[in-house]
Amino acid sequence: MMEDTIKAASAQFEKLLREQLARQERMEKGAFTRDFAKAERIVIGVIGGDGIGPIIMREAVRALEKLLADELASGRVVMKEIGGLTLENRLALGQAVPDAVLAEIKSCDVLLKGPTETPRGGTLESANVTLRRELDLYANVRPVCVPEEGIDWIFFRENTEGSYAVGSKGLKVDDDLSIDFCVTTTQGTDRIIELAFDYAVKTGRTRVDCVTKANIIKATDGKFLDRFNAIAARYPDIEHDSWFVDIRSAKLIDEKRRRDFSVIVLPNLYGDILTDEAAQIQGGVGTAGSANTGDHYAMFEAIHGSAPRMIARGMGDYANPESILRAAVMLLRHIGMPEKADKLDAAITATAINAPITGTKEGNTCQGFGDALVKALQ
Ligand code: IPM
Ligand code: MG
Repeated sequence: MMEDTIKAASAQFEKLLREQLARQERMEKGAFTRDFAKAERIVIGVIGGDGIGPIIMREAVRALEKLLADELASGRVVMKEIGGLTLENRLALGQAVPDAVLAEIKSCDVLLKGPTETPRGGTLESANVTLRRELDLYANVRPVCVPEEGIDWIFFRENTEGSYAVGSKGLKVDDDLSIDFCVTTTQGTDRIIELAFDYAVKTGRTRVDCVTKANIIKATDGKFLDRFNAIAARYPDIEHDSWFVDIRSAKLIDEKRRRDFSVIVLPNLYGDILTDEAAQIQGGVGTAGSANTGDHYAMFEAIHGSAPRMIARGMGDYANPESILRAAVMLLRHIGMPEKADKLDAAITATAINAPITGTKEGNTCQGFGDALVKALQ
């Protein structure tokens, strides 16, 4: 009996191993190279998603329509709404990202995406995780700024490997034993760490920190840290240091030390956790945007989920659109429109002060925030 269990689990593990070796061989390297400034036509795919997704997305689309009025009128920019990435449709088709939706996404140049819901348990993979893998969006870039406290962080979260690579394919060996896997490749690690250092050089930042738990998770986090040290040696002008994730999460709330951090590079799961913590320091997860970029595609989204609790409490209309709007700022910068990005960024900051969302019925509604924002963009 035990022998049969081992045989079945080994066969499943062998399959995962083959998939990961094939992925590692396919892996590409290099930063997003497309020069959008020369593009005759830029297609922005728009996906509302689940829960509060369509509510916050409506305000992002209004702001973009205002900012890009000329480009939309001339046809240089096209906004294309993509349907079908709802939980109901994904469950009905048994596909995390239905084939037809993926094909539409691939026909766009960039994507602005609302949060999508993932059922706990079951086998349906997160749409986010699927998209990041299918489009090879290996860099999850998340800025967090609190100027009055001297906080100006930018996280480079590895986005295709770590605990997420086969997160939905772990082994339920028998009723009592389950095993998940963490995957780290040299290629996958180097490309995110190089991107973080190159970003520091390009933007005049002088420090890059790495976060792992390499004292305990020795094979995968150990590789991430080894590659970090090897790559850091090629950037002698950039100061570097490495941290374990437990103490690093404590230091994020240490008011004396936290302003020293600047660029932070880290594996997928730690990046997921620390960026929510960092966003909370900025004012909540509703305030932080996120870019997922690879060598061919780029997807921009809020860092938070679909907020089913908010919907259940009937508070969806009070959701904060700031996160998806900050993602739109990153999208504009990515497609070579830095002035429009700065204009939107400043207008969001002003609106957050003048027409704040509080997450309660005493505060502003999502639409009210959007109205004030459109006015600020005049
Ligand atoms: C994020 C989210 C996602 C993640 C979920 C929605 C799959 O929490 O983008 O941080 O875990 O990466
Ligand atoms: Mg997260």
